[in-house]
Amino acid sequence: MSLAVRYSEHGDADVLRVVDVDEPHAGPGEVRVAVRTAGLNPYDFKVRRGGYGKPIPLPSGQGSEFAGVVDEVGEGVTDVSVGDEVLGFTSFAAQAEYVVVPSARTAPKPAELDWAVAGGIGLVGNTAERSVDSLSLTPDDTVLVTAGAGGVGLLAVQFARKAGATVVATASEPHHEFLRSLGAIPIAYGEGEVERARAAAPGGFTAALDNVGRSGVELALALEIPPGRINSIADYEAGEEFGITNVGGGGKNRAGLERLATAAATGAIVFPILATYPLADVVDAYRRLEERSGLGKIVLTIS
Ligand SMILES: NC(=O)c1ccc[n+]([C@@H]2O[C@H](COP(=O)([O-])OP(=O)(O)OC[C@H]3O[C@@H](n4cnc5c(N)ncnc54)[C@H](OP(=O)(O)O)[C@@H]3O)[C@@H](O)[C@H]2O)c1
Repeated sequence: MSLAVRYSEHGDADVLRVVDVDEPHAGPGEVRVAVRTAGLNPYDFKVRRGGYGKPIPLPSGQGSEFAGVVDEVGEGVTDVSVGDEVLGFTSFAAQAEYVVVPSARTAPKPAELDWAVAGGIGLVGNTAERSVDSLSLTPDDTVLVTAGAGGVGLLAVQFARKAGATVVATASEPHHEFLRSLGAIPIAYGEGEVERARAAAPGGFTAALDNVGRSGVELALALEIPPGRINSIADYEAGEEFGITNVGGGGKNRAGLERLATAAATGAIVFPILATYPLADVVDAYRRLEERSGLGKIVLTIS
């Protein structure tokens, strides 16, 4: 037997249980990974609460991203070996002692990459890259990034800066120094944010990357950014309503994971970890995530 996070009914974090399940084994083309770390994402609790996207069968596991050590390889696997340290992606299954995935859903973990970063960067990194790429930013752009201190936002800020854009990012005051260190201009969100944004970018904005939802889209529209240059990963209804785009995560593959892992390992991108929790404290970990405040990523440490 082995331990895994499961829930049998929709609801808040307290429906989560850490239970004994049959130990999974690698089939043809698959690898089994003894998981060391697994990231938490808002997607997990949106699905768990029910009514988000296609209903998933219950009981369900949880978690999309992990890092660990390969301890079994299935028939025909030649690209990954037992003992390899990897990061990877899966669906509703990462928060467990063992994960079984096709070998192509893993990438080598650079030895110098922190385990928490390895287990937490996959989903937000893929999303931030795709979202930023969708706007084809150049040094002529001034871009608004909402939730600049969140998992996706702090990477979107860095990718937009790498494209040469001027970046104005929303965050609460304690996170402003961090955003400045990334080369962004921080502003507080909430009442008066339109005026603060205008003051931060007197020449106006040409694009927006929204990571908050409706209030972020409304801020971008109030700043008179053309809807075709507003991309929201958090408000899909606004796509139809205002003609903005909704390019989020997708098309995850080994090359993309490897690119993110290398960038984080070499310091080309910074990826702060807000907190780590042992598997047994998964309920507390999600309660913290669901507060929706704090700088960086929350990760479970499993072994
Ligand atoms: N479409 C996709 O493929 C996709 C993929 C990943 C995520 N998402 C969605 O994108 C959103 C962000 O995800 P995430 O992982 O980055 O979340 P996260 O790390 O939990 O975001 C937390 C951050 O949100 C900030 N925040 C909260 N309310 C805010 C507001 N009103 N204005 C500005 N910032 C605010 C907080 O900033 P302070 O601490 O500074 O207050 C905090 O740093 C979620 O809704 C998630 O479901 C979509």
